[in-house]
Parts: sequence; structure tokens; C-alpha cells
Amino acid sequence: MSKQTLTITDNRTGQTIELPIEHDTIPAIGLRQLKAQADDFGMMVYDPGYTNTASCKSRVTFVDGDRGILRYRGYPIEQLAEESTFLEVAYLLLFGELPAATELTDWNARVMAETQIDRSLKDLLKTFGADAHPMGVLISAVAAMSALYPDSKQVHDSENRMRQVLRILGQLPTAIASAYRHRLGRPHIDPDDTLSYSDNFLHMMGLSGDGEVDPVLARAMDVLFILHADHEQNCSTSALRNIASSDADPYCAVAGAVGALYGPLHGGANEAVLRMLAEIGDTKNIPAFLDRVKGREVRLMGFGHRVYKNYDPRAQIVKRIAYEVFDVTGSNRLIDIAVELEGAALEDDYFVSRRLYPNVDFYSGIIYQAMGFPVEIFPVLFALGRAPGWLAQWMELMNDEEQRIARPRQIYLGETERPYVSLNERG
Ligand code: CMC
Repeated sequence: MSKQTLTITDNRTGQTIELPIEHDTIPAIGLRQLKAQADDFGMMVYDPGYTNTASCKSRVTFVDGDRGILRYRGYPIEQLAEESTFLEVAYLLLFGELPAATELTDWNARVMAETQIDRSLKDLLKTFGADAHPMGVLISAVAAMSALYPDSKQVHDSENRMRQVLRILGQLPTAIASAYRHRLGRPHIDPDDTLSYSDNFLHMMGLSGDGEVDPVLARAMDVLFILHADHEQNCSTSALRNIASSDADPYCAVAGAVGALYGPLHGGANEAVLRMLAEIGDTKNIPAFLDRVKGREVRLMGFGHRVYKNYDPRAQIVKRIAYEVFDVTGSNRLIDIAVELEGAALEDDYFVSRRLYPNVDFYSGIIYQAMGFPVEIFPVLFALGRAPGWLAQWMELMNDEEQRIARPRQIYLGETERPYVSLNERG
């Protein structure tokens, strides 16, 4: 076998170093040996946006962006979306294996037993006005749980960690639904632990009307949650790992992750897509809109991805579910604009040359809207689906002895030392 090392020569000094290669990476700290002067700090890598930096070793989710592959714990997303339930996938992400039948029954019961929220959390949610964005409210709700559950500070106790995981999975849907109902001026609906996770969520949102939730819609919700459940070291997961690396409790870490997800370049994209489609308004306006995108006036929301340079496999599934949902709800008129916009973009050299394809957010909002969700709540649905992934990544981090507090370096380009100028001497 060839030698698994990388030899680097520093042409400033002629110094040569040899670094070990493991999993196609080199240890960045090894570069510090390279110094132009003996008292230099040493060489670092510069990587804004971490485009080529592995921050951890993970066994949770695999993404091959060139081939459009996504697997959780080795299982293809297509099969999980076809065969599994959301809580089953949550178990898989957290524990590494699919549960046996009795384990699954027990797991479902344990999560559903945690769905009641504390009175003080309910009261807090009532303090927000009708124009409060649901993502801001969700961040506040999760952060409030840190104050409500001080035992969560014991992050090095694995039993304690699991208690918090169950609380987060169980209580998030209830807090979201309660806040949503308050926003509409309607009363809180208590969770029903005899229902499935997604059924119960739609029930608490009040989207079932007076009757039961349509099973097609409950299944669509469940599959959408599965598709969002994890996506390795994305912006929000990295934010969560950064926060948790200081041994902060998981509520603070998840609240931070929700904050990162809120942005329109990440989980806020589903909301932005809907607003974009509504603004386009008619298929005849698509060419003019694409001209604006190419003129860099606006972005085509729901297109492009840091990792996928191929069709996002989640987007294919979401597109299929859209039509299943429309059979129940009636079509969303925006679907025609979305389909034609996608087709036009995929034939346009601007998008082809940059390998920009629809991502998970391109079609999901159209489904959420058809199901009766208001547009501002779309990113919250992304967050709810992503919760098991965040928690699985947190558990992995807490068990990873190679991890340390996250603390990147910088290239300092500011002023060198200069004397202080007193106020009356400043121009
Ligand atoms: N519309 C128009 N141009 C785009 C788009 C887009 N949606 N995405 C990328 N580009 C262009 C970009 O301008 C750049 O062109 P050039 O090389 O000429 O300057 C090139 O493609 C590479 O883009 P980038 O911004 O360097 O790529 P990135 O990896 O830093 O950003 C992204 C990835 C997802 C932030 C970006 O594609 C984007 O803004 N997409 C729209 C927002 C969106 O749909 N986000 C959801 C992502 S999937 C769900 C999730 O996990 O968050």
C-alpha cells in the first residue's frame, strides 16, 4: 500500500513536513510547524464558511452531493421515507439502529408521555403578539426550557441527557402548536398521547377541524419530518455543536440551532420560496424573474446547495408527496408556477453551469400551504423535523473524546499597536 502521508514543502524556508492522511484529511494542527520566522505563530488554513474543513468524525448521516445520495445511519432516505415513521427515524438517528417492534412501541410511548408542556411555558407563549414570527417564539420557548429544567446542566450524565432528549422531542410540537393557536386567538389544545407524533401535532394545531386528521395528510407530515430529520454538519447543526462544545445545556444549544435555521439561506428558505412564487404570480412572469436572478438582483430560493451539486434526493420525494396531498386538499395554484420555474431553470445555462438544482425547500412550502399552515410557520416545521438530528449530533458530540470547545482562529488584519488618543485630542 502507498504511504498514507502528505509531504508539504514551505517555499519560504525550504522546510518540509510530512503529515499523516486519515480519511482523506490531514490534521490542521500539523501545519503549525511551518514557520517563516522562529517566533511566528505557524501556518493555519483559511476557510471562510468551512467549505473544506471537517469539524468532526460522525456516524450519523452520509451525504454524497455529487451523486445526490442521503443516508441516515446507512439507510437510504428513499427507503426511510417509504417504510418508516418519524419517531422510528428519530430512534435510528439517536441510537444508531432501527428499533425492534417492542423497542419502537416503548420509544413511541416514552416520547408521547413527554408531550405536556409546563404551565409557565404556556403562559410565556401567550405574551407574544399576533405579529411575532414563530421562529422567534420557538427560540424563546426552547431557551425557556433551559430555565425550567436546570437538571439539564448535567450534560456529562448520559441518563440525564436522554431525559432532556425526550422532553425536547415530546414538548416541541406542543409548544409550537400552543403558540400558533394563541397567535390565531384560539385556545390551546392538549396533546393526545394515543395518536402518532404527526397526527397529534396536526390535532394540536387544530388542522383536523372537528374530525380526525386525514391519514394521507398525517403521513405526508410524517414523511416531511423524516426528510428534514438530519443533514450532517449544516449551518444549524454546526451552530448547535459549537454551543454544546462549551458544555451548555441542550436547550441553549437547540435554541441557537433554531436561530441559525431561521435565516432564508437555510431553513427560512421554505418560507422565502412561497413568497417568491406568490410574487411571480403567473407562469408568464417566469422569464422576467429568471432574468432578475441572473442579474443578481434576487436569488432563486429553494435552489442550490453547498453540498448537493445534483438533484437533492429530498426534493424528489417532496415533489411526489405534493401531488398526494393535493388529492386530499385540492391543488395549490403555486405548484404550476413552481414546476415551470424548475423546468426553465434546469434548462438555463446560468443554473446548469453552477450545478444548481431544487433543494428540499423548493416544494415543501407548497405542501404546507395546501395543508393549511400559514407561511411564517414553515421554518418552524423544518425545526421540528430537524430536532432528532440535532439531538443525535449532540449525543455524538458528548461522547466524542477528540472534541474540544469550538474555537476557530482568525487572520488579524486590523491596526497594530498604537497609542491611546484622549477624547479632547481626537479630530
Ligand atoms: N439563485 C441564484 N444563484 C445562486 C443560487 C440561487 N439560489 N445559489 C447559488 N447561486 C450562485 C451564486 O451566486 C454563485 O454564483 P457565482 O459563482 O457566479 O458567484 C454560485 O451559484 C455558487 O453559490 P454560493 O452562494 O457560493 O454557494 P453556497 O454553497 O455558499 O450557498 C446556498 C449555498 C444554499 C446558501 C445557496 O445556494 C442559496 O442561497 N440558495 C437559495 C437559498 C436556499 O434555497 N436555501 C436552502 C438550502 S437547502 C435546506 C437547508 O439545509 O438549509
